[in-house]
Amino acid sequence: MANENATGRNIGPVIILGPPGAGKGTQAKRIVDRYGIPQISTGDLLRDHVGRGTKLGLEAKAIMARGDLVPDELIYGIVASRLREADCQRGFVLDGFPRTAAQARWLDGVLEKEIFDKSLSDKSGKCPPPIVIQLLVDYNQLLLRLTGRRSCPTCGRLYNIHFQPPLVDELCDVDGSKLLLRSDDREDVISERLAAYDSQTKPVADYYRAQRRLVAVNADRTMDEIAAQIFGVIDRHGQDANGGTAKLESAS
Ligand code: AP5
Repeated sequence: MANENATGRNIGPVIILGPPGAGKGTQAKRIVDRYGIPQISTGDLLRDHVGRGTKLGLEAKAIMARGDLVPDELIYGIVASRLREADCQRGFVLDGFPRTAAQARWLDGVLEKEIFDKSLSDKSGKCPPPIVIQLLVDYNQLLLRLTGRRSCPTCGRLYNIHFQPPLVDELCDVDGSKLLLRSDDREDVISERLAAYDSQTKPVADYYRAQRRLVAVNADRTMDEIAAQIFGVIDRHGQDANGGTAKLESAS
């Protein structure tokens, strides 16, 4: 349920960074529930295209199956059209985007001039700057989160056989559907995804650190503890934008 106190104001863009399995999707859903803004997961958008067999899906399918990143040019179109939808007017959570330094620069350009000059603007007419949360997780914990992940094909609920198992083995608690293992959660593909993260996505954190936007969060904790810290960051950011004195801080 959305928290009534948190839904009234503009939140602006929230970016969740972190390696595969860090909990980006999990925390993005918590933000959606609390602030009533949509989650934009480029992984989910791409899997939807793959499932529907679109031209983009056909191009992305083999790349995703081996754990590589889909080329930037293929991603920009789906992100730009999603950001133009009406539900993004108060803000949105980006999960899995940007994933290269070029994507981060592209996003800055979009936020500055292309789309949000009216709908998301503050008093000075500018889109609020993104809140960038980086989830930090130990490597062995990442492997357990990825190999243990299961999802419901009907309602999308996430489970983990190690940390958050369903009440009945392999069945969704909500609708009883048989839970699925994501095809790229096999160990050989996981190592490729982690390598792609190290070489191509870590520079995104450097990009936002240089802008003093990066808020590092220790994500080796419970989902509730992590969410509480993220909510604190978003709420302080809102006070700051409304003339308060709080500043973003790194915290781990
Ligand atoms: P994408 O779908 O974005 O996958 P990813 O980045 O690898 O991230 P995951 O979805 O695997 O993990 P997550 O961090 O969301 O963790 P989750 O919350 O599920 O991308 C897939 C592919 O698409 C890429 O490989 C690439 O090919 C392509 N792609 C996507 N975006 C792209 C882009 N911008 N550019 C180019 N290519 C792109 O949690 C994981 C598990 O851990 C769950 O079981 C959960 O229950 C559990 N868990 C979560 N938090 C905790 C906790 N605190 N304690 C214990 N368990 C936890």
